[in-house]
Amino acid sequence: MNPAGRPDEILGRARRMSVGGRLSFRRHLDAVVDDRDLPLVDGGDDPPPLAEIVPAQCAHIEIEVGSGKGAFLLAATAVAPETFFCGIEAAPSYARYAAARLRDAGRRNAVLLIDNASLFLRDRVAPGSLDRLHVYFPDPWPKRRHRGRRFFGEDCALAIHRVLRPGGLLLVATDNPAYAGQIARVLGASDRLARDEDVERELQALGPGHGFSPTNFEAKYLAEGRIIRRFAFRALADSTR
Ligand SMILES: C[S@@+](CC[C@H](N)C(=O)[O-])C[C@H]1O[C@@H](n2cnc3c(N)ncnc32)[C@H](O)[C@@H]1O
Repeated sequence: MNPAGRPDEILGRARRMSVGGRLSFRRHLDAVVDDRDLPLVDGGDDPPPLAEIVPAQCAHIEIEVGSGKGAFLLAATAVAPETFFCGIEAAPSYARYAAARLRDAGRRNAVLLIDNASLFLRDRVAPGSLDRLHVYFPDPWPKRRHRGRRFFGEDCALAIHRVLRPGGLLLVATDNPAYAGQIARVLGASDRLARDEDVERELQALGPGHGFSPTNFEAKYLAEGRIIRRFAFRALADSTR
């Protein structure tokens, strides 16, 4: 155990800032948000583990990476009131805005966490914790020197598989053809994840809040006529867990 009383396997504190560290974002929202009673955790330099953020009685837990203005969380929390959702958003202004939307809608089954999701999943989430991991329109970081910040880097499959329960789902949407190719290649090469195109069709047929949709970027890109690529990958059972 470490001094904070948390298991070492999910803390990894000494290395925390080494993978991209805290990301800084230039975008800010104009809206002033009333901070009272927000379902918001500012991870700071030492975020609590997921197990301390989620209410104890929750059997189903899902994380959304990069929740932006929170459109997906707002819909998903209504569709699945028994599931607890944690949106991890690196931009504090967006996290605060999304948290305010959830509070104002009376949702009790979600929280926004301000942190770098890649780090949080690696060192604050115990193995097999998640039923679903949602990643919608992840920043493609097009500049070569920023490629290391991509959520779906070359070694992401193991980290994603680790946090999903066996049979759990990773759901991804992107408009960026090059990044979609990288995602399909990197995850498709993993022997621990299997693409499930039936699930991709089923979730889209079920409609908003069930997976993939709605998000602000989806609405924007659909209006622009862009092609959106959606992927569902299932975590395979693994005897090495
Ligand atoms: C292109 S926006 C998409 C927002 C939302 N998913 C949507 O579809 O409308 C990407 C979001 O991911 C957030 N983000 C980027 N990298 C992140 C990271 N490593 N951890 C958490 N959030 C991140 C950004 O701040 C931004 O809000």
